[in-house]
Amino acid sequence: MIILKSSDELRAMRAAGRVVAQAHELVRELVRPGITTWELDKKVEEFLLSQKAVPAFKGYHGYPASICTSINEVVVHGIPSRNVVLEEGSIISVDIGAFVDGYCGDSAWTYPVGKIDPEVQLLLETTEAALYAGIEQARVGNRLSDISHAVQQRVEADGFSVVRDYVGHGIGRDMHEEPQIPNFGPPGRGPRLRPGMTLAIEPMVNMGSFHVEVLADNWTVVTRDGKWSAHFEHTIAVTEDAPVILTVL
Ligand code: MF3
Ligand code: CO
Repeated sequence: MIILKSSDELRAMRAAGRVVAQAHELVRELVRPGITTWELDKKVEEFLLSQKAVPAFKGYHGYPASICTSINEVVVHGIPSRNVVLEEGSIISVDIGAFVDGYCGDSAWTYPVGKIDPEVQLLLETTEAALYAGIEQARVGNRLSDISHAVQQRVEADGFSVVRDYVGHGIGRDMHEEPQIPNFGPPGRGPRLRPGMTLAIEPMVNMGSFHVEVLADNWTVVTRDGKWSAHFEHTIAVTEDAPVILTVL
């Protein structure tokens, strides 16, 4: 069942989304060669707690940190570590989720570390554009897979591939609610979109093939071919009018 949110609930979701966006601003300022992913995690956790927000990932199925830090060929769910130091020319996908007053916001962004190669820059631009192409389809009257299809079209137009094994999701009182939102597929399928639906749309895009595997830590998802991957995610609300992005300042 897809849980529709009232206007009061949407206000609460917006508050959660704003705190997550503020945490991303902090990360954007901190990301530079030499910082560890452990430091990023601590700074974000400190910030969230200072805002009376509860990190959504910590303890989720035993996940050990407040954010995910996924570098280069890591697709998602990279675990922050004291031993992982950011290097010039890398990219890092930072995923942040937080509850405020019982409602969840979830957003991921891929940041360049210093100067990156032009084709990697294109990967980031394409993945961000694919996210917005998906959001644009989150309108009353459309069906869920119109989002999926728009994301896939935008990604493949630039010769990149969409990860199949992980999907976006409904979000609200729980971080993961129905429906699942694949980033690929034909348009015109699935439930009709209705006002009050709140969705986390999150394309994961690979420079090489879409195949991924999970490392022995049971969390870290990497590309099978070792090529790099990007991840952009916003939590949005479907309304009578245009889609509303909740995870912005
Ligand atoms: N944005 C991811 C998701 O929606 C974050 C989950 S990471 C976990 O699934 F550690 F919480 F699992
Ligand atoms: Co998510």
